[in-house]
Amino acid sequence: MKIQILPSLLAADPAKLGEEALRAETAGADALHLDIMDGVFVPNISMGPAVVEMARKTVSIPLSVHLMLIRPDQYLEKFIDAGADSLLIHIEADCDVRAALVRIRELGVRPGITLNPGTPASRIADTLELVDEVLCMTVNPGYGGQAFIAEVLPKIREVRHMAQERGRHDLDIMVDGGVDDESAPLCAAEGANLLVAGTHLYRAPDMAAGITRMRENSQKAFA
Ligand code: DX5
Ligand code: ZN
Repeated sequence: MKIQILPSLLAADPAKLGEEALRAETAGADALHLDIMDGVFVPNISMGPAVVEMARKTVSIPLSVHLMLIRPDQYLEKFIDAGADSLLIHIEADCDVRAALVRIRELGVRPGITLNPGTPASRIADTLELVDEVLCMTVNPGYGGQAFIAEVLPKIREVRHMAQERGRHDLDIMVDGGVDDESAPLCAAEGANLLVAGTHLYRAPDMAAGITRMRENSQKAFA
C-alpha cells in the first residue's frame, strides 16, 4: 500500500488559512485534513463548512474531513456540499453510526470510522464493511500539538488483521495526533498508511522536505 501524508490545517496560521492550505498542496501533500469540532464532543471549537468550502476552492488535492461532532449525522450534507472527499465520523458519537456511514457512501464520498485512543478495536467490527478508512486516534481529540500515545500501536495492527480477515486488503488505516518523524514509521510498521500530521509539518522549516522524509521513512517501515 502507498503511504499518504495529510497535513492538518488545524496547525496552520489561522490568519491565512487559504495560503496555508495551498502551502501544503505545493509541498506535496497527498490530501488536506480538516478538523471540525463542536465544543461538545470535544472541549474545543474549530472550523465549520465555510473553511472546507474555502479549501475546496483553493486546492485540488482531496479534502479529508474529520467530524468531532456529537451528532455528525446532522451535518453530512453540509460538509459534502462544501467539498469534502472523505468524511470521518466517530464510533463514540451519539447517533446511528452505521446509518450515517451508509448515508455518506450514498452521498458519494468516502466513509471513515474513527476510534478514540481508549476505544477498543472490537467496537468498530460491525462498521468495517461500510467504510473505506479507519482512523485510529493517537491522541485524545480536541487539540493539536499533543504527545503521541504509543499504547495505540497494537490496536492499529489489530484493525489491519480484522480488515484482512474480512478480505478488505484495500482498507486505509489512518493515524492522527502527535505524528512526527519518530512516531510515523512506528504507525506504518503496524499497518497504518494514511498519516495525518499537523504541528510537525506546519512548523517544519521546510514542509516539502518534511513530507518527503515522512513518506519515505514510513513507506520503508510499512508492513
Ligand atoms: C486532534 C486532531 C488532529 C490534529 C493533530 O483532535 O484530530 O488532526 O490536528 O495535530 P498534531 O499533528 O499537531 O498532533
Ligand atoms: Zn483530525
